Amino acid sequence: MFADPPFNLGKDYGKDISDRLKNEEYLAWSREWLQETIWILKPGGSLFVFNLPMWLIEYGSFLNSQGMSFRHWIACRMPKAFPRGKKLSPAHYGLLYYTKGDPDTFNKVYIPIPVCRHCGKEIRDYGGHRNKLNERGLNLMDIFDAPEDIWEIASEEDYNHTQLWTAAEDLWDDIPPVRHSKYKSRAANELAPIMLERIIALSTNPGDIIVS
Ligand SMILES: C[S@@+](CC[C@H](N)C(=O)[O-])C[C@H]1O[C@@H](n2cnc3c(N)ncnc32)[C@H](O)[C@@H]1O
Repeated sequence: MFADPPFNLGKDYGKDISDRLKNEEYLAWSREWLQETIWILKPGGSLFVFNLPMWLIEYGSFLNSQGMSFRHWIACRMPKAFPRGKKLSPAHYGLLYYTKGDPDTFNKVYIPIPVCRHCGKEIRDYGGHRNKLNERGLNLMDIFDAPEDIWEIASEEDYNHTQLWTAAEDLWDDIPPVRHSKYKSRAANELAPIMLERIIALSTNPGDIIVS
């Protein structure tokens, strides 16, 4: 199950939809649909919810109270926004990952080892364990057959069989932002497919049912 609800930031989602609810109203509505996702999920199924940290902590508290099992808070890096008032600059959205009981499916997903886009050298040193990284990725390697638009940010030569890969972490910094001018072909608020592709690769097998 994947949900990318309105963030209650006052966006225009058409008539009859208010994206500027009072906090308690927004949370009451969120709890309603979260409850439905719990009913619908089969035991072992996964729930991913994308939102601002301020809403996700409330979601997490509700999901905990309903007996769901916390797996990860995945930080999806976004371009830094200006701080408002006495605050830090927000630089990530959260992707909450829960399961209904123990996970039925958890596939290890590998992503390309991040390299400097100017000099091509690897950005991290992996604390002396560099030689333990995989030479080739696994689950996501069918990207070679994927439609081009799935890997919007990658050029063909970025993803080749000689590139080194590393297991995905709980910090995702390669998700193109929804409003990036380069990706104007997507509708406003439309997420980059790479995010869903990674979620699907992590938590499902062919033939499974996904509700979004
Ligand atoms: C952040 S956008 C999701 C965009 C989507 N992930 C995509 O990639 O296109 C939130 C969506 O929730 C829809 N929405 C808003 N209020 C809703 C409601 N009460 N019930 C169902 N959907 C709602 C909006 O129309 C909008 O499409």
